[in-house]
Amino acid sequence: MSTKKLWGGRFQQQASEWVDQFGASISFDQLMADEDIEGSLAHVKMLGHTKILKMDDVNQIVAGLVGLREDLHAGKLEFTVENEDIHMNIEALLTERIGPVAGKLHTARSRNDQVATDFHLYLKNRLPKVIDEITTLQKTLVEMAEKNVETIMPGYTHLQHAQPISYGHYLMAYYQMLKRDKERFVFNMQHTDMLPLGAAALAGTTFPIDREYTAKELGFAQVYPNSLDAVSDRDFALEFLSNSSILMMHLSRFCEEISMWVSHEFKYLELSDAYTTGSSIMPQKKNPDMAELIRGKSGRVYGHLIGLLSTMKSLPLAYNKDLQEDKEGTFDTVKTLLPALKVFNGMLKTAKPNVERMKAATENDFSNATELADYLATKGIPFREAHGIVGQLVLKGLETHQNLQDMSLADLQAASPKIEEDVYHDLKSEVAVERRHSLGGTGFDQVRLQIKNAKQELGE
Ligand code: ARG
Repeated sequence: MSTKKLWGGRFQQQASEWVDQFGASISFDQLMADEDIEGSLAHVKMLGHTKILKMDDVNQIVAGLVGLREDLHAGKLEFTVENEDIHMNIEALLTERIGPVAGKLHTARSRNDQVATDFHLYLKNRLPKVIDEITTLQKTLVEMAEKNVETIMPGYTHLQHAQPISYGHYLMAYYQMLKRDKERFVFNMQHTDMLPLGAAALAGTTFPIDREYTAKELGFAQVYPNSLDAVSDRDFALEFLSNSSILMMHLSRFCEEISMWVSHEFKYLELSDAYTTGSSIMPQKKNPDMAELIRGKSGRVYGHLIGLLSTMKSLPLAYNKDLQEDKEGTFDTVKTLLPALKVFNGMLKTAKPNVERMKAATENDFSNATELADYLATKGIPFREAHGIVGQLVLKGLETHQNLQDMSLADLQAASPKIEEDVYHDLKSEVAVERRHSLGGTGFDQVRLQIKNAKQELGE
């Protein structure tokens, strides 16, 4: 049988045990215990500052909350399902300790603005960690790019050899993705750094509260300007989930490539033993489990985004209990994202590119076909026509099992008399890469420029 509720005044019957079990959020929202106490401390100080409560009461409540916080950190607080959620658990514990004066804490406040405040604080405290982990990974990418400016590898489109590129250029592409990810999380902070407290249940309060004071106490940049919006908005969490989904998508793409590249067919990359696993049956195996797991975990993060979007869809203003569903997916996303970034960083930092193998892959294909077309175009042949000539040569090469650079000058000249001895220089993959000086291209100078700019962005 359920115990008497803090809100039990108007009820004649006790809540069914199912209401307790099904309705309670304490199993997961206790993660916001610190934030809840912090929010209450700021709120009660504001109540004293505005003389809504007497300082004597305020001091007792503050002392009680501080004591609770110490016990929380010492792992000594025990929460109960009967007390439903973290807010009522903390209030019940406070009442146990300091008596009925604890009941004054909830003056001019509702659980609706309280939970929104806790949730904002929770994310506000974690966003900087996410941003830091992204920065660490960006630094790793730059460091590795710097070592691999002149490492030549095949560039792909449609997963077919397209044109040779610099491995450093490839790594810097991910740097750019992470840069946008970081910008999104920084922007996310603006909407997270807003205080809902003071909205009360939905309409504000008749008490002469000072919301700016509370905001300052809690370190919020601003307060929500509309009380209805304050208690029903979860955009900041949706943005977080959306940003996290995009970030995980980026990591997942990289992980997919890593998984291919460590395979026997590619062998472009060798992962460190420290970031791989063996097989229980096949002694030779060295599996890229971490890459696969990060790729796999992107799915659950997308799921949390779709979950919350679906919860929010059609929700009438203002608070509805549906909103309690906002937390688990968000908590799990934080719990997924931070280690995924850490593990990815370690895996990448210790991965060794197989420079010879990557380069060789650009020499045993037709990825220099564009070079030959460009060569002919430079000699005055319209590019379309040049494209056709090279296409014919590729066809011939496929029949005779020869790459373009292996064909005799006579054979090449049979296709176009404009071709001369210097063509062999242009057909070298390192030359093809090095010469791509266009802004943002894979030319060594351009990759070095990207690295230089990135270092500046990272304050290095
Ligand atoms: N546990 C609730 C939640 O997470 C707290 C707010 C409850 N408010 C209410 N009116 N029932 O959303």
